[in-house]
Order: sequence, then structure tokens, then C-alpha cells
Amino acid sequence: MRILGIESSCDETSAAVVSGTAVAPVLESLVILSQDVHRIFGGVVPEIASREHLTAIVPVTRRALAEAQCTFAGVDAIAVTHAPGLVGALLVGVSYAKALAESLGKPVLGVHHMEGHLFATALEHPDATPPFTALLVSGGHTLLLDVEAWGRYRLLGQTRDDAAGEAFDKTAKLMGLPYPGGKHIERLAHEGDPGRFRFTRPMLNGGQRPGDADYFDVSFSGLKTAVLHAVRASDDLERDRAHIARAFQDALVDTLVAKTLRGARAYGRTRIVLGGGVACNRTLAAAMQRAADDVGGRVFAPSARLATDNAAMIAAAGLFRYAEGQRDGASLNAHSSLPIPGLVDRFPA
Ligand code: KG4
Ligand code: ZN
Repeated sequence: MRILGIESSCDETSAAVVSGTAVAPVLESLVILSQDVHRIFGGVVPEIASREHLTAIVPVTRRALAEAQCTFAGVDAIAVTHAPGLVGALLVGVSYAKALAESLGKPVLGVHHMEGHLFATALEHPDATPPFTALLVSGGHTLLLDVEAWGRYRLLGQTRDDAAGEAFDKTAKLMGLPYPGGKHIERLAHEGDPGRFRFTRPMLNGGQRPGDADYFDVSFSGLKTAVLHAVRASDDLERDRAHIARAFQDALVDTLVAKTLRGARAYGRTRIVLGGGVACNRTLAAAMQRAADDVGGRVFAPSARLATDNAAMIAAAGLFRYAEGQRDGASLNAHSSLPIPGLVDRFPA
């Protein structure tokens, strides 16, 4: 079984070839073209993203096939991100995948971008398979899920406002750092003194109990405001920048770790899988592993290439969905938002 994956939901045009099965996927090739143009604007400009996808999608796909030493005829199915994301950007991938599928006489499958992120880590770590607790942290989403099996997801918590990556990006902007700001904040935080500033851990207190609405949910807008006040109050931002970055990252990491461990404990999981661009943050992964040691747990974080948006994860999820019998046709459409498929329940079980 060989799947061609296509991803164009935001500002990465990506194509990949994955073969094997959902249990043992083999990454044959992965090409990611990041649209640098958005840096100038300090955020993704949807119209520009769509146009960039249009010019890149054919060469990126051809390159992925060439690197996998595969032809269009050698592909069994095409999996494409159809939700959630920028609808114009998604439409480029969806239209191209449908046209390709039609001309080749192969099936096309729409894959949910966040389900893709769940599969990314398994491409590198054969043990990153269900059951596990998943923390998906990207520029657009923050989801805490219990993954009982592939295709059986329990949504434990999510953000009430900003996504974790968005909080990094907005904090970076407040401090005059380039977009996307996550990696700049992480680098600065290394140099920061943890004792200089301290921000309240958002939505985290010992009085929360399972079943409480805020037990698993997170919120980062207050933390962003705390950063804003600290920046405004500083009489020497050059001196304080690293200390503020450190305090911000410590508060965000503490919160994500505590909520994820609550999820692992609630379902007796010993595996924790991280995904999304913020999973590139080594401080987060290391703190998560230290906390997981207490429950004899193991944390799996994907490499940067598979943590950020890529088509390999879409192809891997496509392998699973194909085996489940999913086939989409010409009516496949792009959706800016859509619940992740396979949601079984909310907490508690
Ligand atoms: O998953 P992703 O590539 O795209 C979305 O689907 O949003 O995630 C991008 C996000 C950005 O907000 C970026 O700042 C963040 O991931 N990010 C990081 C790091 N590297 C990327 N955040 C924190 N620390 C990092 N090292
Ligand atoms: Zn993503």
C-alpha cells in the first residue's frame, strides 16, 4: 500500500509518500516548502498563502514522488488535508488531489489535519502508538486527547482562547522578535533568570477536580497580557527580554505538563505523544518527560520536520483511513473548521 499525501492548510506546501500499514508506516519521501513571504507581514496572509500553494503544489508533489522513486501510477491512493485551516489554502490541495485522483483513476481521501498530527510521531517512533495521551500544540490549535486506539479519540481539553503556538508568536511580537516567534522565545528563555519574573500558571490550581470544566482546559490570553504589562513596565527591555521570555515559557510549560499528566493519570496511560509546531520546544518535551517519570511514563516528541505541518503525517493518517474503508470522491470539500473524526466522548468516560 502506498499513499501520496498532500498538505496545504496554512503556510507549508508539502507532499510525501508513505507506504506500509497504519501500524507500521514507512516514510519514503517528504518535501516541505515553507512560505517565507509571511515573515514580512508578521503573520500568515491567507490570500498570499493560497497563491503560493498554487505555484508550488505541482513541483513539490513531483519532487516527493521522485525522491520516493515512485511514479503517479505507483500510488494506490491520495490523501489530502481537507480541514481545518485557511479555506483558500486548503482548496488548492483538495482541488489538486481530486483532479489527480480523477485522472489516475485512484481514490482520494480527505484527512483531518489534527488527526495527521496524531500520526506524525509514529513515523519515527514505532512505540508511539495507542493507547496514549496526546498533546497537540500548534499555531492554531491546542488539544489534549486520550487516544484509546487509532480512530477513537476522547477530547479531554482545549484552549479557551489563544493556541499555545499563537501565545508564543504574540509574546514574541510584543518583545520585538520575528515571526514565527516560538523558537526565538525558546532560545532567549535559555538565557533568562527564572527568578526575575513570575507569571501565574493559567487555569491551573490544586482545587480543580476531574469533571470540572477547567480541569483539562487551558487559556493563554491572560499570560499574554501579563507579558504585555511586564514589557510596558520594563525600563530596560534589552536587559529584561530574556527574563520575561523565561517566565512566559515556564508558565506555559508548567500548565501544559500538569494538564497532560492529569490526562495520562485519568486513563492510566504510560505513553504521552506530543505533536504540532510547539512540540519542537525541547524545554517542553524535557519537562514533560521529567513529570512522566513519576508515573513510569515515556514521552514521544517528533523531530522538527514532523512536528510542524507536513504531508507525511497526512499520508500516515490516510493509510489508516484507507484501511478503514474511507473513500471520498469529487464532492470532497475544504472546511475551515471541523471536529476531529472518531471522537468517542468527552471526559469523563
Ligand atoms: O504545527 P505548526 O507548524 O503550524 C500550525 O498548524 O499552526 O505550528 C507552528 C507554531 C508556531 O506558532 C511556532 O511559533 C511554533 O509552532 N513553534 C514553537 C517552536 N517551534 C515552532 N513554539 C515553541 N517553541 C519552539 N521551539
Ligand atoms: Zn498543524
